[in-house]
Amino acid sequence: MTHNVVSVDGRLTIAPGVSLLAGDDRWAAITAGLGDPYAWVRQTHDPEVILEGSGSFLPHAGEGVQPGHVEAPSGGERAGDADQVSLPDGDADRVFLPDAVVSSSGRRWFTVVDGRGRVNLEYAEPPDPGWAGWHALVLTSGAAPAAHLAQLRARTIPYLVVGARRVDLARALDELARLLGVATVICTGGGRLGGALLRAGLVDEIDLEVLPAAIGGRGTPALFDAPPLGRNEWPVRLELRSVERAGGGRLRLRYDVLGPAGP
Ligand SMILES: NC(=O)c1ccc[n+]([C@@H]2O[C@H](COP(=O)([O-])OP(=O)(O)OC[C@H]3O[C@@H](n4cnc5c(N)ncnc54)[C@H](OP(=O)(O)O)[C@@H]3O)[C@@H](O)[C@H]2O)c1
Repeated sequence: MTHNVVSVDGRLTIAPGVSLLAGDDRWAAITAGLGDPYAWVRQTHDPEVILEGSGSFLPHAGEGVQPGHVEAPSGGERAGDADQVSLPDGDADRVFLPDAVVSSSGRRWFTVVDGRGRVNLEYAEPPDPGWAGWHALVLTSGAAPAAHLAQLRARTIPYLVVGARRVDLARALDELARLLGVATVICTGGGRLGGALLRAGLVDEIDLEVLPAAIGGRGTPALFDAPPLGRNEWPVRLELRSVERAGGGRLRLRYDVLGPAGP
C-alpha cells in the first residue's frame, strides 16, 4: 500500500531538490491544517512497516539539507554487539536483527530503502511519543559499503541485505514477512520508490491526500516516478474504494489496485 500527500498534478514536493524533511514554507502553506500524515497513516492502517526511500534523506544538489536528517527514528539503545536472533543458514552475513531490538513485543519498523548505504539515520528510535514502539530498519543491497553496515551494527540499527546492486523489493517484502512477521507495509516514500514498487506489482492499495494546489514543474518529484511504459506495458487499473472531503479543500482518495489494464 502507498500513501502520499500530493498536489492535484501529483507532485510530492515543491520543486526538484526541495526535501520536505528540511521544511519549505510553500509546502507548509498548501498543507496548512493537514496535521501529521505519519500519525494519520499509523492510526488508519496500523502498519508494522512504514517504508521510506533514500531520496527523503539525502541532500539534493544545491541544497543545504543535512544527510540523514530524520524526523522519525531516535538514538535509544546503543547496545553495540547485541546478540542476533537465531537465523536459518546463509542469513547471518546479510541480516542484522539484534535480539535486543527484535524481541520487543509489538515492535514496528520505520524502514528506509537505501540500496547503496548512503543514508546516515539520525535516530534509531523516534523521540516523538507518537512513534513509541517504532524502530529504524534499513533495507540495503550488496552495493552498500561494509563500513556503512558496521556503522549500523554499532548503532544497533537492524538491516537486511536483499539484492546485489539495489534492493530487490519483492524479496525484501518476503523477508520482512519471513523474519519479522510483517503483514502490512505502507510506503510513504517518494515517487521513485513508489514507482519501483508499482512496476514490480507490489502495490495493492493507493491512498492519496490531494491538496487543493497545482505545482507543476518538469522534474519535480511526482507520484510513481518510474521509467516510461514500454510498448507492451499497460497502465495499472484501479478501483475507487472511497472518497472523503477533508478540511481545507483536501480530498482523501483510496484506490484498490486491480492490476495491469491489459487487452
Ligand atoms: N508528499 C509526499 O507524500 C512525500 C513523501 C515522501 C517524500 N517526499 C519528497 O519526495 C522527494 C524524494 O522523492 P524521490 O522520488 O526523489 O526519491 P525516493 O522515492 O525517496 O527515493 C528513491 C528510492 O527508491 C529506490 N529505488 C528506485 N528504483 C528502485 C528499483 N528499481 N529497485 C529498488 N529500489 C529502487 C532508491 O533506492 P537507492 O537508495 O538504492 O537509490 C531509493 O530508496 C523528496 O523531496 C521528499 O521530501 C514527498
